[in-house]
Amino acid sequence: MPVFADVDTGVDDAMALVYLLASPDADLVGIASTAGNVGVQQVCVNNLGLLELCRAGSIPVSKGSEHPLSAPLRTAEDTHGPEGLGYARLPATDRQLTEHDAAQAWVSAARAHPGELIGLATGPLTNLALAMRVEPGLPRLLRRLVIMGGAFDYRGNTTPVSEWNISVDPESAAEVFGGWTAAWGTDAPEHLPIVLGLNLTEHIAMTPQLLGRLAEAAGSPTAPMSELDERGTRSAAVNPLIRVLEDAMRFYFEFHFDTDDGYLAHLHDPLAAAVALDPELVQYRQTTVDVELAGTLTRGMTVADWRGHWGLPPNALIGVRVDPAVFFDRFIDRVGPFAHSLGPT
Ligand code: RIB
Ligand code: CA
Repeated sequence: MPVFADVDTGVDDAMALVYLLASPDADLVGIASTAGNVGVQQVCVNNLGLLELCRAGSIPVSKGSEHPLSAPLRTAEDTHGPEGLGYARLPATDRQLTEHDAAQAWVSAARAHPGELIGLATGPLTNLALAMRVEPGLPRLLRRLVIMGGAFDYRGNTTPVSEWNISVDPESAAEVFGGWTAAWGTDAPEHLPIVLGLNLTEHIAMTPQLLGRLAEAAGSPTAPMSELDERGTRSAAVNPLIRVLEDAMRFYFEFHFDTDDGYLAHLHDPLAAAVALDPELVQYRQTTVDVELAGTLTRGMTVADWRGHWGLPPNALIGVRVDPAVFFDRFIDRVGPFAHSLGPT
């Protein structure tokens, strides 16, 4: 299945890309770099370096807008580290960005795979919105769209009511949700975007024990991490991919520990990647979603009209249930052997 991933590579975006590269049923045909967790140039560097680490083929990486549609860029180095991948260091690479930008990359990929392309967005929706301005019919060209974003009947992680990807660029999210209805009208139910909010993704908690299972599956066992470790301790894994994932995850564990979530890490984006390849991993409720843009306290809030007060056609399938054990089994079954194939250095 051809997949186009729009990411603000950060730690969990990186793990989502690794999952796609490790999945035999995924053909990653392009990557859009979106400003979010870190600035867009750093996202590009992370994406290119990750492809080098994974010895991926020549997958085009495009650079997106420097900033959201109409808001100043905010970044999250406190969560993902100064370069977006925690303590991890990626290999140098001579891979280059495409000449065209991320919005054009979306449109070109959709036109190259009409009705077949699976779109995955795990960062702010800036470049997807810009792509839909270039090609308003983009929703009709996609086989599936999975968005990691929002929080439905659930608290935010960036403000009391808004989730990071939406909060960074609420206008783009409103344009994407509104543009879907404009493109499909009311005959859309079988083509609604899948939207995975914090209400779902915060059930996917990576732990040191699960990370240890991954290292075992890669033939590169390591000592389980703990909040008692000295901060910034580097991975001793012999496998290059496990080493990068452990160094990235340690920073992410430390952030979650410091914000009272416990010594764990929510894998928002890897869940979205797994759902992009297999929507049956999650149960959904169909509804109409819009985004608050003007609220003093609520800007960036995703609002689901569960009871049809607005009288508008549905424009989203909201993920409402997932079995974390099924996800982690699949994640480890795919990424473990993939990492092993990269061999220790
Ligand atoms: O709120 C979680 C989302 O924001 C994830 O995609 C994470 O990578 C950040 O972009
Ligand atoms: Ca992300």
